Amino acid sequence: MTRASLDKQPHEVAAMFDDVAAKYDLTNDVLSLGQARLWRKAVARAVDARPGEKVLDLAAGTGTSSLPFTMAGAYVVPCDFSVGMLREGKKRNPWMPLTAGDATRLPFADGVFDAVTISFGLRNVQDTGAALREMLRVTRPGGRVVICEFSTPTWAPFRTVYSEYLMRALPPVARAVSSSPDAYVYLAESIRAWPRQPELAALLQEAGWSKVAWRDLTGGVVALHRGTKPSE
Ligand SMILES: C[S@@+](CC[C@H](N)C(=O)[O-])C[C@H]1O[C@@H](n2cnc3c(N)ncnc32)[C@H](O)[C@@H]1O
Repeated sequence: MTRASLDKQPHEVAAMFDDVAAKYDLTNDVLSLGQARLWRKAVARAVDARPGEKVLDLAAGTGTSSLPFTMAGAYVVPCDFSVGMLREGKKRNPWMPLTAGDATRLPFADGVFDAVTISFGLRNVQDTGAALREMLRVTRPGGRVVICEFSTPTWAPFRTVYSEYLMRALPPVARAVSSSPDAYVYLAESIRAWPRQPELAALLQEAGWSKVAWRDLTGGVVALHRGTKPSE
């Protein structure tokens, strides 16, 4: 089993997701105690895709995170660099325009998307700034970004319980439900090392996004960051 380390070498990250692809969505539902579905609904509300809009769902994996935008009538392009995850998505939804691509070198022209979104993907990208700049490049002026990522609970007692849950319970639970438990050790480590809400907001601003704001979900277990591409 390939397990990525915190230096997030792209070939190791892609191989790790290739390995977990078949059971990825099921494991997600179990480990998030069903919260994943609520988080996806919140992302859909934040993106607020309109019929006919073009939405890029980056690091889309099996495409599960892309489905709400299709249901809203948007044209969604799920893009990911794990061929295993894309293959799994193609089996389930053969009509989806699943596209192979690296978040730091996107295979799209400038300004083609009305909105770009990434759910539980940015934390796995080696160069966060490069991905945020690429997302800005492919978004039209006035277009928006929504980032859904694990974050830091805001209430200190809950934060302590959560870190204990993460560090202690996640690997054994993952061992029971996943064929690749090591991937979930990486998950716990990468969440702990990820910037807190204000720091990620600053990275978005540094990359050129304006009107940056965030909203906590489940007490800050997850945060939704949003931004707008300045109009020319
Ligand atoms: C945790 S999964 C999230 C999948 C989906 N967005 C969801 O919400 O279920 C993270 C995905 O990010 C992808 N990924 C990580 N780094 C990437 C990169 N540099 N370029 C494209 N995809 C990347 C992985 O291949 C994996 O499919």
